[in-house]
Amino acid sequence: MRVLVVGGGGREHALVWKLAQSQRVTEVLCAPGNAGIAPLARCLDADLSPEALLAVAKREGVDFTVVGPELPLVAGVVDAFEAAGRRVFGPNRAAARLEGSKVFAKTFMARYNVPTAAYRSFTELREAVAYLETQSYPVVVKDSALAAGKGVTVARTRTEAVGALETVFKTGGEVVVEEFLTGQELSLLLVTDGETVRLLPPAQDYKQAFDGDLGPMTGGMGAVAPVPLLSEAQLAEVLQTVVGPTLAGLRAEGVSYRGVLFIGLMITSAGVKVLEYNVRFGDPETQAVLPLLESDLLELLEATADGRLAGVTPRWSAGASACVVLAAPGYPGGYPTGLSLSVPKTLPENTLVFHGGTALAEGVLVSSGGRVLSVVALAPTLTQAVAAAYTGVDAVDFPNAHLRRDIGGRFGSA
Ligand code: AMP
Ligand code: GLY
Repeated sequence: MRVLVVGGGGREHALVWKLAQSQRVTEVLCAPGNAGIAPLARCLDADLSPEALLAVAKREGVDFTVVGPELPLVAGVVDAFEAAGRRVFGPNRAAARLEGSKVFAKTFMARYNVPTAAYRSFTELREAVAYLETQSYPVVVKDSALAAGKGVTVARTRTEAVGALETVFKTGGEVVVEEFLTGQELSLLLVTDGETVRLLPPAQDYKQAFDGDLGPMTGGMGAVAPVPLLSEAQLAEVLQTVVGPTLAGLRAEGVSYRGVLFIGLMITSAGVKVLEYNVRFGDPETQAVLPLLESDLLELLEATADGRLAGVTPRWSAGASACVVLAAPGYPGGYPTGLSLSVPKTLPENTLVFHGGTALAEGVLVSSGGRVLSVVALAPTLTQAVAAAYTGVDAVDFPNAHLRRDIGGRFGSA
């Protein structure tokens, strides 16, 4: 089979790496890919619109397409492929609204009693500012539209909240103002064909830029999996109060969800609540989670897309995984590109380096984005995996890289 992966970040490198191991894959293509993906997949220059991607799939005789990022999903790439009779992994446009519009997601959760933070939505700056008078701080301000992980502000003061509202209304039309929740966050990823659900190992992302969860929100500075945050009983409760009603709600609205559903959860003292839905694999969660998969990824993704997931049970390693992101200095604010770096050919055992933003400039590896590399290590325990990931970081030569030194630190000696 010829498989196309859409996207060009660390998540897509992990997807390509794992798909390339499948016995049934003859060639992997990636659009656009990056310098780390290039040795594993033929990288294609293409814009990521549904039409352009469909044209690539037709031209290259692609048998199965896996969509990484949210933008093409929200734009309807799956609908376009299905209308043309092409097999594709990911939810369709109607299902992707769970991520594409935070207002849609919040009203959906309210309709189906999915526990989430209390909120109001606004289309007028003046009304949103007036509503702040009734709020205590911190309060959370969210751009309703896609914002590449940068649309959320946890505002500690009224001034910060007003600033965040003004920023949203400069570009967007709608905002969600919601209650600030405290607790541990959990990235619950699952694949579903609309009926059967298969959970991936629960992961945790480290979202703020600096150690100790300080500084601005990023796309994610590291991740560990599986995290020992939910007991069997709590997990059963999440399946019953969150996952079940979400899939039932989608079905009730005539939406068949096929793909990965990533539910961002906050484990609060008043129970588990949903922070957000994402309709795709997480980045960097995927870099941590996929190396734990012992069975065939292609089989799992195809069964999900074909609606026969009931017949497939993925097999996961009993060990743990940790991922540390090396970002360009300055990320998530302004940062330079074109910084040279090098990754040794031979890495320590059970260590992987996935490229997020790299390119070749006259044969030299350089940075081309904010999150440049993900260093991942597998080990029997989480503590060992974290230590091994930092050993891997030391093996990479990327001067002035920005990284967190406390990935996995919330779990002590787990
Ligand atoms: P979202 O894109 O909605 O997941 O928000 C990004 C990040 O903002 C989350 O992963 C949390 O760290 C934080 N966040 C979002 N909503 C809340 C909330 N209601 N209370 C506390 N933190 C939140
Ligand atoms: N790591 C969070 C995300 O992918 O949105």
